Amino acid sequence: MRILVTGGLGYIGSHTCVELLKNGYEVVVLDNLSNSKEEVKEKIEKITKKPIKFYFGDMINEQLLDKIFELEKIEAVIDFAAYKAVGESVTKPIEYYTNNVSTVLVLLKVMKKQKIKKLVFSSSATVYGDPERVPIKETDKIGGTTNPYGTSKLFVEQILKDLYKSDYSWDIAILRYFNPIGADKSGLLGEDPNGIPANLMPYIVKVANKELECLSVFGNDYPTKDGTGVRDYIHVVDLAKGHIKALEKLEKEQQGLYIYNLGTGKGYSVLDIINAFEKANNVKVNYKIAGRRPGDIAECYADVTKAKQELKWKAELGIEDMCKDSYNYILKRKNN
Ligand code: NAD
Ligand code: UD1
Repeated sequence: MRILVTGGLGYIGSHTCVELLKNGYEVVVLDNLSNSKEEVKEKIEKITKKPIKFYFGDMINEQLLDKIFELEKIEAVIDFAAYKAVGESVTKPIEYYTNNVSTVLVLLKVMKKQKIKKLVFSSSATVYGDPERVPIKETDKIGGTTNPYGTSKLFVEQILKDLYKSDYSWDIAILRYFNPIGADKSGLLGEDPNGIPANLMPYIVKVANKELECLSVFGNDYPTKDGTGVRDYIHVVDLAKGHIKALEKLEKEQQGLYIYNLGTGKGYSVLDIINAFEKANNVKVNYKIAGRRPGDIAECYADVTKAKQELKWKAELGIEDMCKDSYNYILKRKNN
């Protein structure tokens, strides 16, 4: 089966390309390199010893999408292409809504025209806003997002639901990721944001590697076991495997709209992560307690029963692997 992977050279997309190739799928990537590098293509090919086809371009470009569908005989799409920096989305709402919503409308228009109706979409636990309870089930209330990034995911989910209601021959999986961290064991793929990282693991890694001095722990007065924020961290390779299971589900069912949480179902606090990282890598992570980060919630972790039952998928890798592999990528980065 030939899959178009939009945003396939990014963090989650590249790991998913690896899993797709390992599972016998053919992969065509469209990426505008706004947050990735072309050399990731060769790295994916090095890991899998299989080729991928790469188109440099923007998903907003309808003619380019038409051309790709026609030339490549695409049978399904996994859509990762989006901007993802929460803070930046607050200052650049037009750019975020254009890139995260308008591009999806173009993609859907082309898919409809080309009669290809199988889509896996990257959504986020952010659609739950401040959850009413944990663990969060797919049927729990969504909404209450506090930034354009989160709202863009909410909008696309609604667009996909409306689309399915209008035409039941669509076959769509919406995957709500929790907090992906970690990297491919090879150290060739991973996450290395430019500048000061906004998210916990990329920050920890840079402190451990002495590129940054000290981690600020945002708040220790939350109603959690140690007062720091609790999240459901998931290894990016497990997350990538979840996409294969979602595609298999779409192939089996032929039509439907399915929503799955992809997490481990376990919550770890910021201090848990620091401790686990220090232990797994035998390094010190300097940190200090700072004030709460605006917009943060106390606890967010998934109920993963639905994915387990319907996709026959569950996360296999634990926190030690996540910490080791995140650090390994940064240590090997210079040699790659
Ligand atoms: P990423 O930035 O590493 O990857 C996104 C890729 O899409 C990049 O390679 C970028 O160059 C490309 N891209 C962006 N806009 C494009 C466009 N208009 N046309 C073509 N290519 C475009 O991000 P990621 O962490 O791999 O996230 C992938 C998806 O998963 C995103 O939709 C993101 O919102 C979602 N998601 C990510 C997380 C996370 O924590 N990483 C959590 C929940 C959901
Ligand atoms: C972030 C995004 C969210 C996205 C999710 C998925 C923000 C505000 N939210 O969520 O939209 O869906 O990633 O990956 O970016 N922390 C520190 N110090 C730091 C960085 C983080 O203490 O320097 C704490 C946070 O307060 C939080 C935890 O670490 O308790 C995780 O933070 P982060 O990695 O940014 O992820 P989320 O906030 O869960």
